[in-house]
Amino acid sequence: GSALVRSWREQRERRRAQKKEWQLAGTRIGDIMGVKRPEEAEREEHLGGDEGGDGRSSHTFRDKMLADDSSASRTPEAAKAAFAKLQRQRKCLPVFAVRHKLLRIIRDHPIVVIVGETGCGKTTQLTQYLHEEGYTKFGMIGCTQPRRVAAMSVAKRVAEEFGTELGQKVGYSIRFEDCTGPDTLIKYMTDGILLRESLREPDLDHYACLILDEAHERSLSTDVLLGLLREIVRRRNDLRLIVTSATMDAGKFSAFFGDVPVFEIPGRTYPVDVLFSKTPVEDYVDAAVKQVVQVHIGCAPGDILVFMPGQEDIEVTCEKIKERLDDLESAPELTVLPIYSQLPADLQAKIFQKAPEGVRKCVVATNIAETSLTVDGICYVIDPGYCKLKVFNPKIGMDALQVFPVSQANAKQRSGRAGRTQSGQCYRLYTMRQFNEEMLLASVPEIQRTNLANVVLLLKSLGVQDLMTFGFMDPPPQDNILQSMYQLWLLGALDNTGGLTRLGRQMVEFPLDPALSKMLITSIEMGCSEEILTVVSMLSVPSVFYRPKGREEDSDAQREKFQVPESDHMTLLNVYNLWRRAGYSKSWCTDHFIHAKSMLKAREVRQQLKEIMEQQKMPLKSCRGDWDPARKCVCSAFFHQACRIKGLGQYVNLRTGMPCHLHPTAALYSMGVTPDYVVYHELIMTSKEFMQCVTAVEAEWLAEMGPMFYSLKDQTKSRAERRREEVQELGKMEREMQEAETAMRQR
Ligand code: CDP
Ligand code: MG
Repeated sequence: GSALVRSWREQRERRRAQKKEWQLAGTRIGDIMGVKRPEEAEREEHLGGDEGGDGRSSHTFRDKMLADDSSASRTPEAAKAAFAKLQRQRKCLPVFAVRHKLLRIIRDHPIVVIVGETGCGKTTQLTQYLHEEGYTKFGMIGCTQPRRVAAMSVAKRVAEEFGTELGQKVGYSIRFEDCTGPDTLIKYMTDGILLRESLREPDLDHYACLILDEAHERSLSTDVLLGLLREIVRRRNDLRLIVTSATMDAGKFSAFFGDVPVFEIPGRTYPVDVLFSKTPVEDYVDAAVKQVVQVHIGCAPGDILVFMPGQEDIEVTCEKIKERLDDLESAPELTVLPIYSQLPADLQAKIFQKAPEGVRKCVVATNIAETSLTVDGICYVIDPGYCKLKVFNPKIGMDALQVFPVSQANAKQRSGRAGRTQSGQCYRLYTMRQFNEEMLLASVPEIQRTNLANVVLLLKSLGVQDLMTFGFMDPPPQDNILQSMYQLWLLGALDNTGGLTRLGRQMVEFPLDPALSKMLITSIEMGCSEEILTVVSMLSVPSVFYRPKGREEDSDAQREKFQVPESDHMTLLNVYNLWRRAGYSKSWCTDHFIHAKSMLKAREVRQQLKEIMEQQKMPLKSCRGDWDPARKCVCSAFFHQACRIKGLGQYVNLRTGMPCHLHPTAALYSMGVTPDYVVYHELIMTSKEFMQCVTAVEAEWLAEMGPMFYSLKDQTKSRAERRREEVQELGKMEREMQEAETAMRQR
């Protein structure tokens, strides 16, 4: 509850109030929904898997890149010249100066920690050096990234430098998108992908070298990988492990692996003037916009980098900068470019292009630009001091992306971005006092603040019985582990002794949230796996509904046609089926205000999940239009998020008693149906608590599937009583688990 957080909340409320009008003026429906929908998430959300890619799916990013790539239209001479230029650039990077020393130390030590300024060439060069040194004779070079965008864009760059087509010798793999092939030597991937690969191949034998890049970010998957790889290197003396870190955490990593060498790449950085705000700013978006304009009008040439916590703020900031400059007479031209994870690939690529001669560039980015991506030519950094972090929110019982003040370490990293090519300036939109007194020294690792259900599931299936003794660099709080185990137990993935059940074992196979995996597996016995496969796929992509400015009514009218009165999940199914019937047509999407891109992605995801089901011998069966079994499946996965009706559009959560509301876009709402009981996919907190993606269920289903919470006779019991029972149940489970553990230890 620091003042900075409070101030952010106030600002958010104010902007929300403004945004309401702005929304009414028309934005995509997707924008007002979902703290946790894929479009908002910076990082790979799940422990992503890449089963069955091999080029069958269309690679949206790669296709785009190839299509846009000017090199495609270049003459052979021009292509040659461009290639030579890239090679010259490679030799100018600071890491090149220490290439030999670096390779020697890697040769002599199985594990090395490498530190270097951002942009010195760690991510793009190390993999290539290892290849040039001959390591690829023994296996692939893998390099993990905490962020999807970084994995894709770095792979593209390295493919160019390598002179290969992306997906051939150099490729990348992120959840639901595998752009590698049989010839791939250098593979960039999210850390979640490598983690899932360890399920299939516990010693990761395909790899000769692994680079855990951006380890200082301490993403959940990287933290688990650190623990796993420490063991793997002990078993495999032919494996080379490199851990890179941009900041000064190197000592900690070195100690973790048993005092392994730390190699520092000498960097050249230029001085950066750091300017603090004299008074706390009222609105960081306004303040940032003002600062951009001021720099643009008044300062020497050099590009600007602005940090914003998320997509929503980035879009507003870009818009406002343009507005401001339009209002000014004779303002020089400014190219304003956003970057965040869900930005279409062609627009993402733009930030790396040089602006036309004499035109200044202004990049507005999430903290992806802090260390993962390097934009050359930045001289001015504007840092409002906030970022989005995934944290477990006990109020809604799940992880949500929330805005927090950055840590001092982040702030230093951000300011450093201004001094890469010449001296620069960093404008911090907070006071020095706020920096010193209200910001943490370093941010809390993800493993200590998020739900661990997926990690628990994965480690259990890797045979780690007792998570408390797993070799975490910073162990998660015991409460987190227990809470996550409790959730898995509710879903039936763990038994009372904390062991993996058959269902749990099946769930691990899917690169999905545990609840969605369960929904899919349940659908097999319910005879509606065709339908649920579609629903799960549609839930795994950004919102498909499109609501363009000025055409809201048309769009809403189309949307209503799809709506299945009692279920948003079935509405998604309906949309997909109609699209399929229309031959997966793009014009059908346009006519019906549906995002074609999201639909294509859903089709790809569906194909990949289908392949996993086939491998697992899980039959596909259709319930042929009787969607009750499908709704029952939804209930089996989300019974713990159930509500009872209270008034028009108003519900109360059955477990917490918290009021919940139907979202205006919900099918139930617009169809005026008000069933007694519903389950929801997630809760969004905007002006009120809105349930998102809602399906009507029967009371009997809840009693049948969630007997630990609900029984049909329960009506007479007070909420306090039910809560007491819940606590008792949880206590009982914990005791049983502890007993089992003690028994195991004694054995
Ligand atoms: O990983 P590290 O921060 O040490 O640097 P890097 O990502 O390997 O980047 C090295 C250089 O490659 C940067 O200075 C950029 O100039 C360039 N680069 C680029 O132009 N386009 C990309 N997509 C990635 C890197
Ligand atoms: Mg890097």
